[in-house]
Amino acid sequence: MKILVTGDRGYIGTVMVPYLLQRGHEVVGLDAEYYSNGSLFAPPEGYIHNLKDVRDVQMDELVGFEAIVHLAALSNDPLGDLNPELTYDINYRATIRLAQLAREAGVPRFLYASSCSLYGAAGDNLLDESAPMRPLTCYAESKVRSEDALSKLADRDFAPVYLRNATAYGASPRLRLDIVLNNLMGWAVTTGRVRITSDGTPWRPMAHVEDIAQAFACVLQAPLDVISNQAFNVGTNNQNYQVRELASFVQETVGHCNIEYANQTGPDPRNYRVDFSKLARMLPTFSPVWSARTGARELFDAYRTAGMTTEDFHGRRFTRLKQLRFLLEDRQVDGTLRWVGQPRLPITA
Ligand SMILES: NC(=O)c1ccc[n+]([C@@H]2O[C@H](COP(=O)([O-])OP(=O)(O)OC[C@H]3O[C@@H](n4cnc5c(N)ncnc54)[C@H](O)[C@@H]3O)[C@@H](O)[C@H]2O)c1
Repeated sequence: MKILVTGDRGYIGTVMVPYLLQRGHEVVGLDAEYYSNGSLFAPPEGYIHNLKDVRDVQMDELVGFEAIVHLAALSNDPLGDLNPELTYDINYRATIRLAQLAREAGVPRFLYASSCSLYGAAGDNLLDESAPMRPLTCYAESKVRSEDALSKLADRDFAPVYLRNATAYGASPRLRLDIVLNNLMGWAVTTGRVRITSDGTPWRPMAHVEDIAQAFACVLQAPLDVISNQAFNVGTNNQNYQVRELASFVQETVGHCNIEYANQTGPDPRNYRVDFSKLARMLPTFSPVWSARTGARELFDAYRTAGMTTEDFHGRRFTRLKQLRFLLEDRQVDGTLRWVGQPRLPITA
């Protein structure tokens, strides 16, 4: 299948692309490359990837694709702090524009990277896809609005699918340290302590980045009538964890490190447990292989191999908000996050 992957140079994209290539798909990537200065290890090569803003895509560039995997976004909750309008512009308006163009261009499948964070603060109840959406941030709100608008475009020839990903973890060339397990392991490796900002009790549904890639691959292969205009929680029922449990996996992997609780309520008081049964039931070929415990081991090995430093951990290399702030302050991008002149990318990226 010929697939356009937007956001192919990000955390999930750099794992998704080789996963799809290995399964015989033809992949073309499209990314603004905001984070190409920071690689934990070499990002994938051997496919066409275009430096382009998703807001600037033209219809003729989409003709001939059999699917779009739409990952490009400002990708975590605190990024909305930068400027909520930017989050709506890139995550919502550009998504709908891309989907409209895809529909006109005759692309039948549109896999949208949504997020379980749209369920918000829901307590201990298990949430399936019919649960109320209670977005707490403009990031989560942008996912709700996008799903809603995409559903209005669905018809016999255009099948949007909403993959509500659990919080990802695991090694990736374009690591993110702003997501919980990756962050806890970063603390442990660089300081010998695991620092939890909350009291450790909030629930988080978790999924390994490679299992997320596998779920997308299953949706690409599924009959259109099974997936069209459907939402799927992406993860597994045995991976709803409390943050303190994730910290204990880090502690048992690293050994000799203390867990510290800051007991703060941050800007994102998410707390929710998610029911992933629909994905398992409707796409029975999906067979996830990771757990947070095996993921912690993988992260530990990857950080040590890469020689992660305290500066890496606290700096902008692997933290999305810090990198975007730097690009803005350094005037490499303008206030709308468009590059001013040629982006300064590493030659190998
Ligand atoms: N990582 C998670 O835990 C998680 C969980 C749920 C949903 N998601 C969703 O999955 C998708 C990918 O997330 P990720 O963790 O890989 O994030 P990421 O920030 O690592 O990657 C996003 C990529 O999109 C690109 N991008 C951003 N704005 C763009 C624009 N205007 N034009 C072109 N490219 C642009 C960035 O350069 C980056 O490479 C996002 O839509 C995110 O909301 C991620």
